[in-house]
Amino acid sequence: MIIERQQDVTVAAETVMEQTSDPRLREIMVSLVRHLHGFVRDVRLTEAEFREAAAVLGELGKLTTDTHNEIILMAGSLGVSSLVCLLNNGDQGNTETAQSLLGPFWRLNSPRVANGGSIVRSDTPGAPMFVTARVVDRAGHPVAEAEVDVWHASPVGLYENQDPEQAEMNLRGKFTTDADGRFWFRSVMMTGYPIPTDGVVGRLLKLQNRHPYRPAHLHALIFKPGFKVLISQVYDPADPHLDSDVQFGVTKPLIGNFVRHEEPHPTEADVGPPWYSLDYVYRIEPGDAVLPRPPIK
Ligand code: BEZ
Ligand code: FE
Repeated sequence: MIIERQQDVTVAAETVMEQTSDPRLREIMVSLVRHLHGFVRDVRLTEAEFREAAAVLGELGKLTTDTHNEIILMAGSLGVSSLVCLLNNGDQGNTETAQSLLGPFWRLNSPRVANGGSIVRSDTPGAPMFVTARVVDRAGHPVAEAEVDVWHASPVGLYENQDPEQAEMNLRGKFTTDADGRFWFRSVMMTGYPIPTDGVVGRLLKLQNRHPYRPAHLHALIFKPGFKVLISQVYDPADPHLDSDVQFGVTKPLIGNFVRHEEPHPTEADVGPPWYSLDYVYRIEPGDAVLPRPPIK
């Protein structure tokens, strides 16, 4: 098609997209072109802005390596990661779900830890935290022998892979649920943390007068054949950034009952106040147990 007016470009591009053989890819590409062209018209994108946008996309790619994922940070900062999660879980976003963002810090091969063990592998500041959790199916029945990866940032606000002061795999562990669907472990109470701001995302947040914080949270990834892999985060209701998460990840079912205790621990002799506890129930859905691609190595 020879283009005569600006409207013709959209018709030509959409027509070409319609030729995509795979039906799902066709649907995605037709809609993408329609919305992209609509967006360009809507904001009357200038040539300089277009060149700037191309440079930004290139930079996002260059900053994404085996150890840092700037693309995931940007998707989250635009609310896209959370939207995709909510649209694809909890009965297409109509009912509660414990699914949440994977984020850029999950690693494969967390060390196995027996129930009751600690995931603190090097000297880590912070109050002791005791997590007791249960994995159940839709009907509330226990799911035994599920594999549960947990990971969280240290009380200084860094994951071990970001922090040379922490031992390899500090604050990460893999548990197996018992016959009652339970797993439990000891760690330290985490704090909220800023996402990395030394790249494109940091520049955007600054231009929008946004803080870079995620509220304190505990990650879990639960794997059990016959169930969709549950990727979850449980948030501390006391965190000051609970309702302004830079990644838009906080939903009501994910707010945990973290409790701060002001008396000595009843059974752990080395634990004085304050210490924290968290009890949480993870409900998993039937489906294919497909692990996500690890965002970092
Ligand atoms: C996280 O929770 O680890 C996370 C999620 C999205 C972006 C940055 C961090
Ligand atoms: Fe996190």
